[in-house]
Amino acid sequence: MPTGPPPAELHLSQRPAVTEPIPGPRSSDLLDEQAAKEANTVAYPLSLPIAIDSARGATIEDVDGNVYLDFSAGIGVANVGHSNPYVVDAAKDQLDAVAHTIDFPTEARLEFIDALDSIAPGTLPGNSRIAFGGPTGTNAIEASIKLAKYNTGRNGIVGFEDGYHGGTMGALSLSGWSSYKSDYTPLLPDVVHVPYPRPQDYETPEAALDGALEEIRAVVSGRADGLEEPPAGIWVEPIQGSGGVVVPPEGFLEGLAEMTAEHDVLLIVDEIQTGMGRTGEWFGSDHADITPDAMTVGKAVGGIGLPLSATVYREELDTWGPSAHAGTFRGHVPAMVAGTRAIEYIDEHDLLDRATRIGAYLQDRFGEIQEDCPHLVDVRGRGLLVGAEFRDADGSPLSDLVDSIQSRCLQRGLVVWTAGIEGHVLRLLPPLVLTDEQARVGMDIIQDVVEEVTAETDTRRGDGV
Ligand SMILES: Cc1ncc(COP(=O)(O)O)c(C=O)c1O
Repeated sequence: MPTGPPPAELHLSQRPAVTEPIPGPRSSDLLDEQAAKEANTVAYPLSLPIAIDSARGATIEDVDGNVYLDFSAGIGVANVGHSNPYVVDAAKDQLDAVAHTIDFPTEARLEFIDALDSIAPGTLPGNSRIAFGGPTGTNAIEASIKLAKYNTGRNGIVGFEDGYHGGTMGALSLSGWSSYKSDYTPLLPDVVHVPYPRPQDYETPEAALDGALEEIRAVVSGRADGLEEPPAGIWVEPIQGSGGVVVPPEGFLEGLAEMTAEHDVLLIVDEIQTGMGRTGEWFGSDHADITPDAMTVGKAVGGIGLPLSATVYREELDTWGPSAHAGTFRGHVPAMVAGTRAIEYIDEHDLLDRATRIGAYLQDRFGEIQEDCPHLVDVRGRGLLVGAEFRDADGSPLSDLVDSIQSRCLQRGLVVWTAGIEGHVLRLLPPLVLTDEQARVGMDIIQDVVEEVTAETDTRRGDGV
């Protein structure tokens, strides 16, 4: 059976079509109604004020008929494109058959487990076990915390400064975003945060790596303040996504793997944002020569945004028993079917190569923009996870400028997202099915907008024309 239409045929169009003001009248009504009914926790429409009618491939149509190019993929979810028919058809069939099976076996469940195992990093394929819990990424993080504590008999958990792992109490404890945590303390005890090596802050990548590894070694070996013995585990994003698309220097994950093995500390790689082909390999940690003890997956693993997350780990760690990680929803079967189909689609249509090639193009275009924009201080990323960092001449983060770029891009029909604790990084994470033309059109919009916003900012400050 052919694996669906080619990527070029998945979209509503190759370029945006904005025919109504944004937000248009119907969008405004729905946004107002939402604000009147839903909790204050709603956030995305504050930056991107649209109400969505439908989406296909790398395009979204709002309820007023405006069509957008989507360079955010629902924050790294729609890797094979919104409503990819190859995925949708199979998920619908599964919905017709059965949606909820707790954790009883179904053929679809076992096929998905095999498919995910076959693409897992390092030596995990054929040697992994998988635990399903609640449907969203943070649930997989919670399971991995319990797995590490159970297997090591220790309490300490280690995360990275600026790392993000989710919104539930354990994942929040691991995350390095103090603004998300301060109202909810105390969180888990025995949590330590260590520096993530940020090449952009150092003369050389080696300097960034050596400094960070030295501090991490002290914590992992139990010699640092805050923990009385080596921790149960250390949780790392192969690229810090929400923290600002920070790509660590070469050798970082290998260094971590070496020291965690030495001290029997689990290395848990959080692939929730970097997984399923996003970085041009199946997983972000495939760019390094390591096998994680465990990895967490979410976001794109449910194919087209069906809710699914999982914790995959070395089978020797499968020491716990029935319901050690309990829950009513232990794997959503239509999402599993969608996940299997997404893996097939990515494989058959060479989307890993495509992510690498188009990602390089996006970075090249930012390089051109950088020539005329001194505020664009760094461009980085891997595959289709790309960040552009904006700072003032004195080094202050330019989050207002990035907000302005985001809202003006929307006005021209391009959805982009941001990153960094200070919100000063423009983050692109489009579907892997983005076409060359869509990439060019989207980057033309970003280039125009950055030029416009930079000129206005400089004029206001009196240091421009
Ligand atoms: C690296 C990483 N881990 C965990 C999470 C939490 O996933 P979820 O929002 O699905 O709970 C996210 C979400 O952005 C993430 O980027």
